[in-house]
Amino acid sequence: MSELVSIRGAVTAPNTVEGITEAARRLIDRLFFKNRLQDKNVVNMVFTSTADLTAFYPARAVRESGHAVPLFSCAEPNIDGSLGGCIRVMITAYSDAPVHNIYLNGARALRQDICGSYAIALDGPSGAGKSTVARLVSNSLGITYLDTGALYRALGLKVVSNNVSPSDAEAVERCLKDVSVAIEYRDGAQCVLLDGDDVSGKIRTPEISMAASAVSALPYVRQKLLGIQRDIAAKSNVILDGRDIGTVVLPNAEFKFFLTATAEVRARRRYDELIAKGQSVKYEEVLDDVILRDRNDSTRAIAPLKKAYDAAEINSDQMSAQDVARFIIDRVEEDTK
Ligand code: DC
Repeated sequence: MSELVSIRGAVTAPNTVEGITEAARRLIDRLFFKNRLQDKNVVNMVFTSTADLTAFYPARAVRESGHAVPLFSCAEPNIDGSLGGCIRVMITAYSDAPVHNIYLNGARALRQDICGSYAIALDGPSGAGKSTVARLVSNSLGITYLDTGALYRALGLKVVSNNVSPSDAEAVERCLKDVSVAIEYRDGAQCVLLDGDDVSGKIRTPEISMAASAVSALPYVRQKLLGIQRDIAAKSNVILDGRDIGTVVLPNAEFKFFLTATAEVRARRRYDELIAKGQSVKYEEVLDDVILRDRNDSTRAIAPLKKAYDAAEINSDQMSAQDVARFIIDRVEEDTK
């Protein structure tokens, strides 16, 4: 029996005709697909966009893509602290399927009370495939992805660039005293900003991996990054990948997973990734790094790499990233229907 339902969604977009068109269409495609909607069941769609989006009407983009339903666009008032570059929609429709509200590209629900919010903690050793899986899950569920390792890497980069030894706690603390590290989402991709500069492209080298692992053992560093991670998680539905998300950062996360694979399998994946990026490395060296980082990450005194008692363990030796993502998505969808 069909009922009249309201389905909500939002997406961020750059202020260009193409950007708004692409974002509005993607949002509507996802909403139609997830909610099994057809034009004939839709009563109307109302769009709002923040006042900085002036290049095009989202409703017009959707009309031009062939949807023959009543559409309406209007501008939101400028509210201090609200998320900029954001398009929102409310679809009124007749449906007998469960309602899925969808938030893409870092957009978030304004009414968490009606949408319900959740966090997915994805922990595990380096090279287990966490970031690939987290990205797939984030795209499929339309939720924010925070790669927490990037924060530790940014601080590792700062320390190395200042010729400070990453294991010298006092020197590291002096070096990082006034540093600012932040996350921004640009066109849906996470950028890590170090003192305002986007350093996302500089933090993936083996040298920075080791520095990140060393600085991540320092209480000062962990404390510094705790608030940033919790703030991002509090704003929307999220998936965070890291080492201590389910144990320390978000001990009350609704969903917890611990992704593992043998050191050899993880080293092979990391090696293939680095070679594909044009870096010249030897497999044996990558394997040694993986083993050393495992030891550092799991033997440090605070927030060591450890499976939360209530996390589901997934061994990905024989599973593709898509298989792991599907496993996680199924668990989340079962519970958030
Ligand atoms: O996931 P990654 O390889 O990008 O992480 C880089 C280093 O940061 C890793 O050696 C351990 C550390 N880390 C951490 O201690 N806690 C996290 N939540 C994420 C990363």
